Amino acid sequence: MTVLVLTGSARHGSFTRQVGAALVDLVDDATLAPRLTQLPFFDQDLESQVPAAVDELRRLVDEADLLVVVTPEYNGTIPGLLGNAIDWLSRPYAQGVLTGKPVLALAASPGAVGGARALVALRTVLGNAGAELIGTGDVIPEVDRRLAEGQADDVLRAQLLTLVAEAREHLLLEAQRAA
Ligand SMILES: Cc1cc2nc3c(=O)[nH]c(=O)nc-3n(C[C@H](O)[C@H](O)[C@H](O)COP(=O)(O)O)c2cc1C
Repeated sequence: MTVLVLTGSARHGSFTRQVGAALVDLVDDATLAPRLTQLPFFDQDLESQVPAAVDELRRLVDEADLLVVVTPEYNGTIPGLLGNAIDWLSRPYAQGVLTGKPVLALAASPGAVGGARALVALRTVLGNAGAELIGTGDVIPEVDRRLAEGQADDVLRAQLLTLVAEAREHLLLEAQRAA
């Protein structure tokens, strides 16, 4: 199972980016997507000549068996940067690379509830864009404490491994049912 990990913060030293990197270290065949800062603002006028960074991200998402999105919480929702990427990935309408794409949605925050509102928002947007959401997703509270010098602690590592294992199981069962 190939896994692409998308993280929603522009910040150097971002905790959500560090969570994404930790997941990539733990899971075989997992890749961290380029930082979303490379994408231009979504503009329908640009859709006839799609920018190269968008093309590349669409290709990576298309080729992945599972997309994992790790979002921070900004004012109770997802950052505009991530919303922008999802807008690009959702197009053309009903034919974009998110259509039917299995996605595991995660939110992380230094706060005690781990970005639960952002998780709800992320799942809503991804669902509206046609993604197949795996399970309920999950939150990572006190993410700053879970990371030391960029390394995930045992609790976070176990959480990430369990979530990806559950997603893998789900996809295997679906494939068996379809066969
Ligand atoms: C504009 C802005 C809004 C924020 N709103 C929230 C929020 O609603 N809930 C929350 O838990 N943290 C909030 N935070 C704090 C972020 O969780 C924190 O900055 C976190 O480190 C951002 O993720 P990152 O480390 O991946 O960049 C906010 C931060 C910023 C910059």
